[in-house]
Amino acid sequence: MRVAIIGQGYVGLTIAVGAAGAGHKVIGVDVNEQLVSALNTGISHIEGISEGELAGFIGSGAYKASSDPLLLSDSEVIVIAVPTPLDESRNPDLAFVHAAADLIAKNVKSPALIINESTSYPGTLRKEIAARITGIDHLYASSPERVDPGNTKWGTKNTPRLIGGLTPTAVAKAKEFYATFCDTIIEVSSPEVAEAAKIFENTFRQVNIALVNEFAQIADALGISGREVIEAAATKPYGFMEFNPGPGVGGHCIPVDPSYLAHVANEVGVPATFIKRANEVNLAMPAYVVKRVIAGSGGSIKGKKVVVVGVSYKSNVADIRETPAGAIIDLFRAQGATVSWHDDLVGSWRRELSVPINDADIAVLVTKHDGLDLEAIKGCGYVFDCTGTIAGADGI
Ligand SMILES: NC(=O)c1ccc[n+]([C@@H]2O[C@H](COP(=O)([O-])OP(=O)(O)OC[C@H]3O[C@@H](n4cnc5c(N)ncnc54)[C@H](O)[C@@H]3O)[C@@H](O)[C@H]2O)c1
Repeated sequence: MRVAIIGQGYVGLTIAVGAAGAGHKVIGVDVNEQLVSALNTGISHIEGISEGELAGFIGSGAYKASSDPLLLSDSEVIVIAVPTPLDESRNPDLAFVHAAADLIAKNVKSPALIINESTSYPGTLRKEIAARITGIDHLYASSPERVDPGNTKWGTKNTPRLIGGLTPTAVAKAKEFYATFCDTIIEVSSPEVAEAAKIFENTFRQVNIALVNEFAQIADALGISGREVIEAAATKPYGFMEFNPGPGVGGHCIPVDPSYLAHVANEVGVPATFIKRANEVNLAMPAYVVKRVIAGSGGSIKGKKVVVVGVSYKSNVADIRETPAGAIIDLFRAQGATVSWHDDLVGSWRRELSVPINDADIAVLVTKHDGLDLEAIKGCGYVFDCTGTIAGADGI
């Protein structure tokens, strides 16, 4: 099939490579021209997609990136994979989705299958995408992406894929497309069910992470180890699922998607109390970390040298979107500390560079990547560990 994918980020590029590998002819359309040229020279910006693999698809003509929307016009399948962030009031910002729909409306004049993979609230495909594209009889389906960057066990091929469409023909065509590179396809009765399933999955994670984060604070105040309690509880073979505490949630999904659910809940008059509370608990974790570090390191950090280790939002990825490390660093600076950070994967961030972990007064391990020099952390004056890695250190 001739496939166009709008957005070549974590999701779009992953799907592009999956589809190219299945024998489709894929165009990756992105407004970011720098990204487009990098991709066309075989440079991948995503963990899990090797440059060799990308270069191979470019060489064989199976894939190319472009910022020319006219190239959409000849596609049989168009996948939308653009950002769905929150605005300043933490409400859904669908500007990118609208722009992608408008791009299709303007450039695609023969019927195609249009699939939305961007995460959004139920009703997005029907009301925010299909309703903006008038005059042509396109097919519309929703197949929310579940990719977990850096996960080597579950990827595009073996993660079951949900599909809901506006018509049975749209569902059939979407199933035909995804069956070429996904093992398991699950049809649901409407796009709204598929869209809601995705945001409910991430809300489930956000609420449970908030619960363990709150529990970790209770356990610490009681003088017991929250992590040991969670490990003990996880020996129960049924009815319990292990989540671990940390410095807060980051990335494009867990801190964001639940607010999409809260937004529609609010519109239909149902108070999304769990989501609100989970947001509060997780957003307050950086302040809790800083409070514990101040208490554990002698009552004041003014003038002290602090190194924050691991600034991406999770292990072994370089993604710094919504990372709690940002708030932790800002709060330390507001307390008068001299703060630097170390993260080999991130390298450069907020116009600052990663520094070696050298004799800091305080080291705070926020995110642990493989191969991290734990001995260098232990060599610092006081160590606070948000990851449960360093035995005997203070932490959560
Ligand atoms: N990152 C994840 O782990 C993940 C997992 C599952 C679902 N999702 C969802 O997938 C969607 C995309 O997320 P992502 O992480 O791939 O985002 P991303 O920021 O990595 O990539 C999005 C890309 O879209 C491009 N773009 C924006 N507007 C465009 C337009 N009008 N035309 C063409 N390109 C445009 C941007 O330049 C960017 O390269 C979001 O809805 C997100 O919630 C993300």
